[in-house]
Amino acid sequence: MSDTLLIRGGTVVNADRESRADVLCVGGLITAVAPDLEAPVGATVVDAGGQYVMPGGIDPHTHMQLPFMGTVTRDDFYSGTAAALAGGTTTIIDFVIPDPKQPLMDAYRTWRGWAEKAASDHAFHVAITWWDDSVHADMGTLVREEGVNSFKHFMAYKNAIMCDDETLVRSFRRALELGAMPTVHAENGELVFLLQQEVKARGVTGPEGHPLSRPPAVEAEAAQRAIAIADVLNVPIYVVHVSCAESAEAIARARARGQRVFGEVLAGHLLIDDSVYRHPDFAFAAAHVMSPPFREKTHQEALWRGLQAGHLHTTATDHCSFCAEQKAMGRLDFGKIPNGTGGVEERLTVLWDAGVNSGRLTPSEFVAITSANAARLFNLYPRKGLVAPGADADLVVWDPAAHHTISVASQHSRGDFNLFEGRPVVGRPSHTVSQGRVVCALGDLRAERGAGRYLKRPPFGPQFSALGKRAALQAPTPVLR
Ligand code: URP
Ligand code: ZN
Ligand code: ZN
Ligand code: ZN
Repeated sequence: MSDTLLIRGGTVVNADRESRADVLCVGGLITAVAPDLEAPVGATVVDAGGQYVMPGGIDPHTHMQLPFMGTVTRDDFYSGTAAALAGGTTTIIDFVIPDPKQPLMDAYRTWRGWAEKAASDHAFHVAITWWDDSVHADMGTLVREEGVNSFKHFMAYKNAIMCDDETLVRSFRRALELGAMPTVHAENGELVFLLQQEVKARGVTGPEGHPLSRPPAVEAEAAQRAIAIADVLNVPIYVVHVSCAESAEAIARARARGQRVFGEVLAGHLLIDDSVYRHPDFAFAAAHVMSPPFREKTHQEALWRGLQAGHLHTTATDHCSFCAEQKAMGRLDFGKIPNGTGGVEERLTVLWDAGVNSGRLTPSEFVAITSANAARLFNLYPRKGLVAPGADADLVVWDPAAHHTISVASQHSRGDFNLFEGRPVVGRPSHTVSQGRVVCALGDLRAERGAGRYLKRPPFGPQFSALGKRAALQAPTPVLR
């Protein structure tokens, strides 16, 4: 098969501009972006007339093959990345989550092994779930030798992977020294634990108890605490799955003070509200149990405004698929329902439909929040997140006029549920290109097991140079007496 691909006649959309141009890809890289390119002999030619050509989506928050809450997610690194490619996402950043006391390098090697079957390019954030000198040392090895430049901290999930404030502080300090981005799942785990007991004591044992045990203030407290710690330590911070107005406001306030705080929003939190938890069918309600929970509808507009205003930067899915049988582990106790929902295949289409078709976002802003910003923050840019010569040929050819109705019946994820079931959407990928190869064409998915590469991400991304200067100018000085 030819390693040359010409995408002809489309409108190229980058985060900074749109232009009419053809895109030539050779050997897995983009080699030319210009009007009226000649097709080299033997090239595969894709007609993109009337369509947009954008950088492939980057989902900076997924959990494939995750062992969690006593079970393992349905999608492994093959099925999950294949579903991603079907939906136009060509890179995922997943999470290595060591058990408390498990050496980081052991967990990292385990996850790298699991990800060998990935069909798309992928990288890892590594969670810091405990602390000792070996964790300090392994963070260094991960950054310097393995290309990990972000560390995750779960402020919830008490008695499991929750990280206390001491660990948070030590890890943030170490991350700064290494030029890596600290990230947080912001929920106060002590409050969640207490509220779960209290809600159950009142006889609420079904999925409707889940949001009651995790109200917005529980999330906002943790977000503010993490932001304040990062401010004191002069570290950048990235808050994953911001779900409520209060957290978005905490980020906006900190940014207005000049702090380098970044926020991620999930497609689900932008579109689904908490009424799902009161559905009479246990399976339906339980299928929506994820943390933080879906919120009252008013929060959705705050999240959209955060994306529009630039206080929130990336969109993700937190793809973490459990089937009805697994969700039934919490039939008698909502606290035992494995937390997680899907969406890796639907993220781009639902965000285009609800974001661009509604006039909330321009196509360039769509590229920023689905690809370019994640590439910049996690230092994959301009290899990823940009349509330009020299970048990886990871592209989505986007048909803005294609109509379809989302359904579990046509999804590629192994999950048995679709968060966006029955939603009519306009705009979807006609072609997905990964490493210069057409991996999905008009619904014909040609994902290849093991074709995805592990991406090493260098430390000291763009936000670090300003932080270093600020720290030097603000260094404490003694009074000379
Ligand atoms: O409910 C969720 N989000 N499950 C995955 C783990 C996490 O908290 O991100
Ligand atoms: Zn989380
Ligand atoms: Zn997650
Ligand atoms: Zn398909």
